Amino acid sequence: MSENIVEAQGLVKRYGDIEAVRGLSFAIRRGEIFGFLGPNGAGKTTTISMLSCLLEPTGGTAIVAGYDVVRAPQQVKRRIGLVPQELALYPTLSARDNLNFYGRIYGLHGRALRRRVDEVLEMVGLAERAASAVKTFSGGMKRRLNIAAGLLHRPEVLFLDEPTVGVDPQSRNAIFEHVERLNAEGLTILYTTHYMEEAERLCHRVAIIDEGRIIALDTPRKLVTDLGGGIIHLGIADGMAEGLLEQIRALPEVRAVTRLDGKVKVEATRAQEALVGLLALFNRTDTDVTSLEVLEPNLETVFLHLTGKRLRD
Ligand SMILES: Nc1ncnc2c1ncn2[C@@H]1O[C@H](COP(=O)(O)OP(=O)(O)OP(=O)(O)O)[C@@H](O)[C@H]1O
Ligand SMILES: [Mg+2]
Repeated sequence: MSENIVEAQGLVKRYGDIEAVRGLSFAIRRGEIFGFLGPNGAGKTTTISMLSCLLEPTGGTAIVAGYDVVRAPQQVKRRIGLVPQELALYPTLSARDNLNFYGRIYGLHGRALRRRVDEVLEMVGLAERAASAVKTFSGGMKRRLNIAAGLLHRPEVLFLDEPTVGVDPQSRNAIFEHVERLNAEGLTILYTTHYMEEAERLCHRVAIIDEGRIIALDTPRKLVTDLGGGIIHLGIADGMAEGLLEQIRALPEVRAVTRLDGKVKVEATRAQEALVGLLALFNRTDTDVTSLEVLEPNLETVFLHLTGKRLRD
């Protein structure tokens, strides 16, 4: 059995003139939670749709659970669970009946179906609410029911497309816990999000995607230490002479300097190195620094560093 459950090589998807996915190559290892982190329109859903055999790639290849998505879609579909971005539930039916419906699509019947529905309801913490109509569920409960539907046929890998959008913070936490538990029980998960906190908390490795390309791929920790840069807020006593700001701007590790609420905001490629240069400059110029704060780098600053844009506006 291959160590990788997903192997994509140069995946491309064009919609007419729009190139939504521009040559993605990556591998997802069995047992990991792998993240796609990227802003709206980055190409996350398009990629998941190709890995799930819902969209044919314009170019490149993808092997999922040992099978080619174009040549053996039936084999692939049997081995993956897809939890789409859009909810697909029948509001007037109970949670159990929604799952019965999906279970039959997967070819489950009778006792095997009943037992599996009970199991997946348990896995997502909805056993108590099995008989309630879905229209009485919160956004987070509906998401969890969607996840349960994706688990019915015991997939080897689960594709979760932005499972926490429109969900309150408490339900978000419940979803995180269920995702972590499913993973601890051996399920491989592809988790897409445009929330960097989610990628940081949940994912073993993250591919940062922008405009149809992977611009970085590593563990969150490695991404942040290598590329996170840093932001330093300075309070400077008498005035903030433009001349001094120019000198700060000229330091090798500094990318941008702006005034912010009576302070100076310094964006650095590497906060520690920039700090050394700043302190030397202040010594030389006899500048009186009244406050100094170094903001922790995170995946947001990684994205900012790589693209010059924020993940969300
Ligand atoms: N059916 C389609 N026809 C034409 N263009 C499309 C279609 N589906 C997606 N696109 C375009 O492809 C690009 C990638 O879209 P995609 O839905 O994959 O992004 P995403 O990363 O999932 O974004 P979001 O975070 O908003 O869900 C966007 O520019 C989008 O407008
Ligand atoms: Mg999407």
